[in-house]
Amino acid sequence: MKNISDLRGTTQEENSNEEKLVKKIDLLPNEELLYNLPLFLSPKLLSRILFFNEMYKKIINHHGVIMEFGVRWGPILNLFQSLRGIYEPFNRHRKIIGFDTFEGFTEVTDYDKISKKGDFAVTEGYEEHLEEILSTQEKFSPLDHIKKFEIIKGDIIETLPKYLEENKHTIVSLVFFDLDIYKPTLESLKNIKPYLTEGSIMIFDELCDDKFPGETMALDEVFGLNNLEIKRLPITSRISYVEVKNVK
Ligand SMILES: C[S@@+](CC[C@H](N)C(=O)[O-])C[C@H]1O[C@@H](n2cnc3c(N)ncnc32)[C@H](O)[C@@H]1O
Repeated sequence: MKNISDLRGTTQEENSNEEKLVKKIDLLPNEELLYNLPLFLSPKLLSRILFFNEMYKKIINHHGVIMEFGVRWGPILNLFQSLRGIYEPFNRHRKIIGFDTFEGFTEVTDYDKISKKGDFAVTEGYEEHLEEILSTQEKFSPLDHIKKFEIIKGDIIETLPKYLEENKHTIVSLVFFDLDIYKPTLESLKNIKPYLTEGSIMIFDELCDDKFPGETMALDEVFGLNNLEIKRLPITSRISYVEVKNVK
């Protein structure tokens, strides 16, 4: 696997400043660590959190589940859980479903410029820890006796059609595409399209990104870029979204 800073495209200066901060984490006693996490939040990280907050507000009156395609360590899955706890603590139908191989990229194509098989892999068995983390987090919000998240391990090209076949009642209110590469993005767009409704939100992390052209090409193939209004917020740079209209 390539160095994570190469994959994220961060500069050496950013990396060394992040490293300085990471070295200070141990200074805080365990019982004070979580409360003080904002001490380590950079504007870039905070803006990403704020972006998802704005997206969540858009779906509050829109029925359906939230899906994340490519969860890696799972921070955004947990963010969605916390936002649900804040904005609609009694909406037990707002399930949050995350898909990942947890082994990084499977098959890369010529469209996926810098990507290699295995990039973005996490540690072995991590999905079990993520399950535990999300279960623990769920306890901080009401209705914690009802499990409202699901982590689905495997190649999304196989797992998503299987999930949808077994859950034909699915309506998707928000879907976050963060698979980075062409083939799984293409297949997941094709599979999820029939489950989107007027006003569903699709979020993309790598559109118009020269390092990961595959995501844009996949979106063009399935929806046609000319048919979409691809929006952004002034607080973030790369991440974009579409409010689905006239979906056919
Ligand atoms: C950039 S990471 C996702 C980061 C995460 N969304 C976040 O914001 O922290 C991309 C993820 O897509 C996953 N992925 C790529 N191809 C996949 C496939 N065919 N099936 C399932 N997951 C895949 C990788 O394993 C990796 O964890």
